[in-house]
Amino acid sequence: MPDPTGSRPDRNLAMELVRVTEYGALAAARWVGLGEKESADGAAVDAMRLMLDSVRMDGVVVIGEGEKDEAPMLYNGEHIGDGSPPEVDIAVDPLEGTTLAAEGSPRALAVMALSERGTMFDPGPCVYMMKIAAQQGFAHLLDLDRPLEETLKLVAKEKGTDVRDVTVMMLKRDRHADAVAEIRRVGARIRFIEHGDVSAALLAVQDESPVDLLWGIGGTPEGVISAASIKCMGGQLLGRLWPRNDEERNAALEQGYDLDEVLDVNRLVSGNDVFFAATGVTDGDVLDGVHYTRGGASTESLVMRSRSGTVRRVSARHDRAKLREISGERVG
Ligand code: FBP
Repeated sequence: MPDPTGSRPDRNLAMELVRVTEYGALAAARWVGLGEKESADGAAVDAMRLMLDSVRMDGVVVIGEGEKDEAPMLYNGEHIGDGSPPEVDIAVDPLEGTTLAAEGSPRALAVMALSERGTMFDPGPCVYMMKIAAQQGFAHLLDLDRPLEETLKLVAKEKGTDVRDVTVMMLKRDRHADAVAEIRRVGARIRFIEHGDVSAALLAVQDESPVDLLWGIGGTPEGVISAASIKCMGGQLLGRLWPRNDEERNAALEQGYDLDEVLDVNRLVSGNDVFFAATGVTDGDVLDGVHYTRGGASTESLVMRSRSGTVRRVSARHDRAKLREISGERVG
């Protein structure tokens, strides 16, 4: 249990979570490049679910694989862990970037985050969120209401460079066409990604990042997970729910969501003891993916906790024969 005064070291749950994300990544990696995104995702879900039961916690999935009727496991509202304290909220994306994994493209991750019970934002019916994220040094410049063009100029000024040396990372989507034109008009650069905006957020918030801003409309669950990572690493993300149609808008309003509200990382994850772990499935800017070796496989993970501010990079070697003894053909 965390020490309420926060003054003594206690258990770092992220150290247990990394075993879960490693296991998910190893399972998903068996499907990398095979063109079957559902199988890759299913393998990661099964593997993580199995491992999660061994974690000493009383967890409720707030961000998971969807509603119970569409997801047999890790569905929103499901209780996981062995049921002992602490009581936590869980955000889990066993395979962030299902298409990336299926196509053998960079940036797929297995990722999860925990925070104290009742402290994670539940996006309800809203699938998408408008997001802007950057490292701590630019956090004060982020504003969802100011024209992007002006923000880019302010970032350039803060960096001490020309606006042509500012790079925005964004999902390549038709819905971003106006912003793309605006960014190009001012002369800044765009680094497009096909998928995977959690990985993009992890990159954008790092000091000395090659990317100055993450901008665009992406998944709301990914926004909450990114916020959890930023609580640990520093930086900022601002989001605003972005209903896709009137049905989603009305459902959100009926459930009491304020569609104008700007959601910062402390609103998306209000807890002060946040744990985060991510393991690369395919090679990315931030993490290497699963690599196969003669006797097994290697993984690389980020393991972080907000209260201590510790950011660990964990490289692991996994013995294929031993893994199979424990898990059958699931992973390794
Ligand atoms: P999946 O892992 O569910 O395939 O999501 C990948 C992703 O690219 C996210 O990183 C991103 O937030 C979201 O999809 C964007 O959604 P869409 O592809 O519908 O624009």
